[in-house]
Amino acid sequence: MTARIIDGKAIAKDVRAELIPRVQALGKRGITPGLAFVLVGEHPASVTYVKGKAKDCAEVGIESETIRLPEDTAQQQVIELVQRLNADDVWHGVLVQLPLPDHMDEEAVIATVDPAKDVDGIHPQSMGKLMRGLPTYLGATPHGVQQLLVRSGNPPDGKHVVVCGRSNLVGKPLAVLLAQKRAGANATVTVCHTGTPDLGEMTRQADILVTAMGRAGTITADMVREGVVVIDVGMNAIPDATKKSGHRLVGDVDFDAVSEKASAITPVPGGVGPMTRAMLLVNTVIAAEGGPDSQ
Ligand code: GUN
Repeated sequence: MTARIIDGKAIAKDVRAELIPRVQALGKRGITPGLAFVLVGEHPASVTYVKGKAKDCAEVGIESETIRLPEDTAQQQVIELVQRLNADDVWHGVLVQLPLPDHMDEEAVIATVDPAKDVDGIHPQSMGKLMRGLPTYLGATPHGVQQLLVRSGNPPDGKHVVVCGRSNLVGKPLAVLLAQKRAGANATVTVCHTGTPDLGEMTRQADILVTAMGRAGTITADMVREGVVVIDVGMNAIPDATKKSGHRLVGDVDFDAVSEKASAITPVPGGVGPMTRAMLLVNTVIAAEGGPDSQ
């Protein structure tokens, strides 16, 4: 079997196109969706991500501003900035880009974001609501993975999904999201992580395998079964002398070998990444429309 490529770029384009009439309807009510980014330090990937997210905002008519602070900013200053953004009606969403510098307590900063503006879906209140199956902002990557599955004709319903990774941004919320009792979810979910003794034994049982480990080449062909659907959340830079930058991006999966066995697979880049970016826009439009409870 040679896998069908799940084209995240094309699906993300559809998602963005669906937002245009919603942004126009808001415009008729005198509302321009607004998203404020807080970027502390010079983490190269974060700088790139935030630039990309801001560009996406402009494309669909969302106003955005990126507030950049130096690496050595005091935590209290970041907290006070977030409080000011919380109080400013221009911003329907407030996003603090992670990771924060080591001297900061990430939990304290995230907890400062007004849950009504937590378009990142990472405030404890948002994650608690997800756990309880209540309307809330869904994290952009977990929601993007779910939409990739549904929109590519590989719905998770009734399937065994194996999630590799237990991060707060991806693995944990994705497992909860896909196990929910509703259409487009309703999966049997297994969560694997660095403490899983025999990863291959688990991944071979997957109908749908989602990898979010951040380590290139972790999933080899012998670790998947014929016909599996693979969603690769990994984004790893590996040295490549043929590239101007000196590196290229790959996922967690040995793409070429696993493609020979899988029925469908996401590429890196061009798979999950564009969907993550698109789902943040969706949350920002939802925020401008009145929040998840208004949907
Ligand atoms: N860093 C990498 N991914 C994310 C994300 O989804 N949200 C935030 N805030 N930071 C990130």
